[in-house]
Amino acid sequence: MNIKVYVPRDATALSLGAGRVAAAIEREAQRRGLQVQLIRNGSRGLFWLEPLVEVATAAGRHAYGPVSAQDVASLFDAGFLEGRPHPLHLGLTEEIKELKSQQRLTFARVGIVDPVSVDDYLANGGYAGLSRALSMSPAEIVDAVTQSGLRGRGGAAFPTGIKWKTVLDQPPQQKYVTCNADEGDSGTFADRLLMEGDPLMLIEGMTIAGIAVGATQGYIYLRAEYPHAHRTLNEAIAAARAAGYLGPNVLGSGKQFELEVRLGAGAYICGEETSMLESLEGKRGEVRVRPPLPAIKGLFGQPTIVNNVISLASVPVILAKGADFYKNFGTGRSRGTIPLQLAGNIKRGGLIERAFGLTLRELIYDYGAGTASGRPVRAVQVGGPLGAYIPESQLDTAIDYEALSAIGALLGHGGVVVFDDTVDMAGMARYALEFCAKESCGKCTPCRIGSTRGVELMDRVIANIDRERNLQLVEELCDTLLHGSLCGLGGMTPFPVQSALKYFPEDFRKTVQ
Ligand SMILES: Cc1cc2nc3c(=O)[nH]c(=O)nc-3n(C[C@H](O)[C@H](O)[C@H](O)COP(=O)(O)O)c2cc1C
Ligand code: SF4
Repeated sequence: MNIKVYVPRDATALSLGAGRVAAAIEREAQRRGLQVQLIRNGSRGLFWLEPLVEVATAAGRHAYGPVSAQDVASLFDAGFLEGRPHPLHLGLTEEIKELKSQQRLTFARVGIVDPVSVDDYLANGGYAGLSRALSMSPAEIVDAVTQSGLRGRGGAAFPTGIKWKTVLDQPPQQKYVTCNADEGDSGTFADRLLMEGDPLMLIEGMTIAGIAVGATQGYIYLRAEYPHAHRTLNEAIAAARAAGYLGPNVLGSGKQFELEVRLGAGAYICGEETSMLESLEGKRGEVRVRPPLPAIKGLFGQPTIVNNVISLASVPVILAKGADFYKNFGTGRSRGTIPLQLAGNIKRGGLIERAFGLTLRELIYDYGAGTASGRPVRAVQVGGPLGAYIPESQLDTAIDYEALSAIGALLGHGGVVVFDDTVDMAGMARYALEFCAKESCGKCTPCRIGSTRGVELMDRVIANIDRERNLQLVEELCDTLLHGSLCGLGGMTPFPVQSALKYFPEDFRKTVQ
C-alpha cells in the first residue's frame, strides 16, 4: 500500500531542514521495503513545528514535528506511517489548537495540496471560481468582487472591485493584470507562503481578473529573494497551461489569458505600485506621479490592474462561494479574512488567517504564546517598517482597518512584529529614518534629503546634544514628510517615529554615559 507522507517544500521549512528530512524518509522507507508516496506540500504556517511531517491515515492526517533527519528512523520504528505515538507526535493536524481555531479561506488549501498539481487543486475545490466566472458577464464578476467588500491586502486597503471597474470601463485595448509579489515589509511572509503552498489559487485569481476586465496578459512581479516561490510558481503556471487553464482558449471559453513571472529588482520602493510598473518595464524603480492612475495608464501606458498576491488569491473563493459568503466574515468595513503574520520576539511565530476583528492581544498570546524571550511585551509594530509602534496598553485594539486607524496605526500587509521590554524605541525611531534614507527612490526632496537629516537629528537626540530643540525639529520634519512626500515611503516614515515619541518619550531622554 502506498502511504502518503507530506513534507513541506516552502522556504521556512527548507531552512529548518525539511529537505534533509524528506531525503531521510525516502531512504528509510527504501531500506525497510516500504511503499511511501512523498508529497512536498506548503507550510501550514505553524513555524515552531517545522519541519512538520504529516501522514495520511483513514482517520485523517497525523502530524509530527519539529522533525529532524535524525528522528526519522525512530519515527519508522514507532509506526508513524499508521499515525502511532512518538515523542514528536502532535495528533491529528486539523486538531492542532492554533490551526483549528483559524478561519482559512485564502489559505484553505495551503499545506493540504501538492502545490503544483492541477488534479489535487481540482480535487480540493480549485477552479470552481473560474468556472463560475466564465458563466458571468465581466460586469457581474466585477460586481461580485465589489459586493464582497474585499479591500487590497498590499497595504492601502483600497476596494478591489472599484479598481477593477476602472480598468473594465476603459475602452477595449491591450490591458494587463499585474500581481504585486514584492512583499518588502519586515515580518511579512503571507504572499510567499501562498505562492509556495497554493500558487494555483493566485493563478486562478489572476485569470478571473483578466476575464473580468478584458486583459489577456498577466505578470507576477516577484521579489528576487524568493527563489523557491519562483520555482513553484513557474511549475504551477506550466501545469495550468498544460491543463488548459491558461493560454489562448481558457477552458474552451474562447477567452485568452497568459501569465509570466518577472523577478524584482531588490528595492523596497519597487513594491510601490507605480515603481513596480517602471521596474516591470525594465526601468529603474522610481515612483510615477499620479494621475494618471495605473488603472487608466499603467504598464506600457495601458490600463492595468495592480493587486497584491493575497487580494488576487481571495477572488476565487468569492466567485466560488458568492460575495455574501465572503462578506459574512469580518467586522465593520473590514470584510472577509486576513492572513496575519506573527514575527519578531515571539514564541510561536507564523501565519494565522482569521476574520477581521480579533484583537492584537489574542493574536500575540493565544496564537503566539507571548515573547520568545519570556519577557513582557512592550511594543508591537503592525504593517511593516513604516507602521506605527503600538504600546502594550493598546493591545486590546481589534485588528481591522478602521480600529487601527483610530489609534494612529495601520494594518498594511498584516505583519505584526513583537518587541519585549528591552527594546530601545529611540533606536527604532532612528532606524525608521535610516530605512527611509536607504530605500528612498530620490524623486522628491522631503524623502530624499529629509530622511538623511532626520537620522542626523536622531543621532543628536540620542547623544543629548541640544536635545529638546532637536526633538522639535524631528517633529517638524515628520510633518514635512507626511504632507510633502510623493509616495507612502516618505509619507509613512513619520508613523513609527511619531508613535515611538508619543508612547515611549522616556527612551528619547535617557542619560548619556
Ligand atoms: C513604499 C511602498 C512599498 C510597497 N510595497 C508593497 C509590496 O511589497 N507589496 C504590495 O502588494 N504592495 C505594496 N505597496 C502598496 C502598493 O503600492 C499598492 O497599493 C498595492 O500593490 C495594490 O494592491 P492591493 O490593492 O491589492 O493592495 C507598497 C506601497 C508603498 C508606498
Ligand atoms: S517619498 Fe521617497 S520613495 Fe516616494 S517618491 Fe518621494 S523620494 Fe521616492
